[in-house]
Parts: sequence; C-alpha cells; structure tokens
Amino acid sequence: KQDGDQLIIDAGQKQFGATTCSSCGMVYSADNPEDNFQHTQFHQRFLDSIKFVGWKKERVVAEFWDGKILLVMPDDPKYAIKKAEDVRRVADNELGFQQVTLSRPTQAKTYLFINTERLVVGCLVAEPIRQAYRVLEQPDRHKDMTKDDFMERHRAWCCSTVPEQALCGISRIWVFSLARRQGIATRMLDTVRSTFMYGSHLTKEEIAFSDPTPDGKLFATKYSNT
Ligand code: ACO
Ligand code: ZN
Repeated sequence: KQDGDQLIIDAGQKQFGATTCSSCGMVYSADNPEDNFQHTQFHQRFLDSIKFVGWKKERVVAEFWDGKILLVMPDDPKYAIKKAEDVRRVADNELGFQQVTLSRPTQAKTYLFINTERLVVGCLVAEPIRQAYRVLEQPDRHKDMTKDDFMERHRAWCCSTVPEQALCGISRIWVFSLARRQGIATRMLDTVRSTFMYGSHLTKEEIAFSDPTPDGKLFATKYSNT
C-alpha cells in the first residue's frame, strides 16, 4: 500500500516537475522548455536587482545578527535611489502593481533589509498620510480553494467607510520569497515606527496598510494584534 502511494506521488512529480530555484525562488517546471526559458530570463535580472554592493554612505537604522535595515530618503545619492527603485520594481512586479511611481515620491521613505549574503531581501515604502480606512475582517470563505484560488487571492478587501486618523501609510511591503517567515517584515515595521517621524514612536494604530494583498492582510492582522 505504502509503495503504491509512493509511486503515484513520484509520477505526479515527474509529470509536473515543479522545481523551486534555490537562488531566485522562482517555481517552474524544469521539463518545460518555455518555463525553463522564462526562468533563465528572470533569474539573473532578479539577482542583479537585489544584489547589494555596499555604499559610501549608508543610513543604517537597525542592525541584527542576520542583517541590517537601511533607510533611503528622496534626496539621497543616485546609487541609493536607483537600488531602492530596482527593488521596488521587483516587489511591484510580484504584487502585480502596474505603475511604479509613488503617490508622493518626495515624501516617501524606503526601508531595505540587507542580509548577510548582501542581498536586499526586504523592501518597505512608507509615506505620510492623514487618514486611512480600516480593513474589515472577512468571514472565512476560504473553505475549499481550488480553481477560484486566483480570484480569491486577488479579491479587493472590504474597507470601512469611516476614515480614521493615521500618520504613516505603508504603500509597499515585500520580503524575498526564500526569506519569509523569519520576522523580516515585522522588524522592518518596528523600525518604521521608531524612525519614520523624528522624535516620536508611532503606535501600531498610527500605521495603515494601503490596499493589502491576502499575504499582506494575514501579516498585518498578526502584527496589529501582537
Ligand atoms: N500566511 C499566514 N500568516 C502570515 C503570513 C502568511 N503568508 N505571512 C506572515 N504571517 C503572520 C505570521 O503569523 C507570522 O508569524 P510566524 O511566522 O511566527 O507564524 C507573522 O505574520 C510575522 O511574519 P513575518 O515573518 O514578519 O513576515 P514576512 O517577513 O514573511 O513578510 C509579507 C510578510 C511581507 C506579507 C511577505 O509574505 C511578502 O512579501 N508577500 C508577498 C508580497 C505581499 O503580498 N506584500 C504585502 C502587500 S500589501 C502592501 O504592500 C500594503
Ligand atoms: Zn533562479
């Protein structure tokens, strides 16, 4: 019985051949020439985008055993702005955002998490805001996610119609797929709270997520309650 089950599993893997690239994290089918081509196209461009060579001036706002967080401001040198843009483009691409421009580029602060392998594995863009609409809890409709998975994951979340006071809007938050669930997003947000407004520590309520994805909502819900 056990052997039979194993055979079926092997056959399935052979047929679909899903592989996760251990450097770029892309999931693709190695047996499929078109998939292979797409991976090759993506791989180097992605790694170039997140590669961090070190800067003459780095605004280090937090340090950890497994990396550090740099803050990039709108008036920083070109090389810093360019790296922030490159990583933001990678994040936007994954989030399916079309336009890369920010709503208020002159006030946006970009936080980059650099790991010990000199890769930018986290990116967060924070902008000053006055008010925000709270995301409302959704009843659990995820009971059996099959082919509606895609629709479900891209559904617009329900927002309250009553604006609430907020000071800092998170317009993007992204962590490299192979570096998730290691507290990188949590540490970036904690750092935003202590460094976004000079001389004051923001509460969790004073931070708002713009238009969160399902991943973003799961993370935000957890973050707000802890
Ligand atoms: N599913 C369930 N719970 C989650 C998930 C998830 N996918 N991600 C985070 N959490 C919860 C967990 O409780 C987690 O704690 P645990 O690992 O001890 O269980 C807690 O949040 C803290 O998670 P972190 O490790 O700090 O989060 P991470 O570094 O993995 O980053 C993020 C989370 C940014 C959402 C990441 O999954 C990501 O980049 N996703 C793709 C891009 C995306 O959707 N970004 C949000 C867009 S919304 C916006 O930009 C405003
Ligand atoms: Zn790859």
